[in-house]
Amino acid sequence: MSNRYLNIAVFASGKGSNFRAILNAIKAGKIQDARVVLVISNNSDAGALVTARENNIPTLHISRMQFLAEEEFNGTLLEKLKEYSVNFIVLAGYMKKVDVSLIRVFKNRIVNIHPALLPKFGGSGMYGIHVHEAVIAEKENISGVTVHIVDEEYDHGPIVLQQTVPVVDSDTPESLAARVLKVEHEIYPEAVKLFAEGRIKVEGQIVTIINSQVGINK
Ligand code: GRF
Repeated sequence: MSNRYLNIAVFASGKGSNFRAILNAIKAGKIQDARVVLVISNNSDAGALVTARENNIPTLHISRMQFLAEEEFNGTLLEKLKEYSVNFIVLAGYMKKVDVSLIRVFKNRIVNIHPALLPKFGGSGMYGIHVHEAVIAEKENISGVTVHIVDEEYDHGPIVLQQTVPVVDSDTPESLAARVLKVEHEIYPEAVKLFAEGRIKVEGQIVTIINSQVGINK
């Protein structure tokens, strides 16, 4: 699978604000050599689908419930990705575990964003507001954002970028989530840009950023 020019499929189940941040960065020319060719959701009401339609990007509502067997669901997904010549997948609030069959075809070409500093506060049950509740319950002073490559284990693959976000005494899970989300919108486009520039090398769990000068404005 070619490393350059990203034909991106975005998988999103919710609001899709991270998808919007990436799309805006592409439209503004901050990320070159990349375009979003397909937006996939398991939720027909996802905001991400609305954004895609507004931008004339093809959408696909596909959920496991539409199929009798998991293999049939994943086979259809793979066919669609092929049909749109997808070579890179961005998970942006996708609430379903990606099947190993997809992970194998798109090895080191699927990224996810997590609203905490992995490996802490990741894994099963650690999604949405639960992540921030756990960070506050543990009395952490620092939380953050992690962009990582998706491997066969949940919230586990090689880390591409991380950025810290302070936790303050008066934080509620909601206020912390809002502060973290702002940083997500900066760091996710940065990570996609690095891939589009062919500057990410992955060896096992180690990610190297080639010619490192990270920053979307640089
Ligand atoms: C983000 O907090 C992200 O870290 C998590 O799901 C949320 C998606 O938000 N994986 P949005 O749909 O992009 O607004």
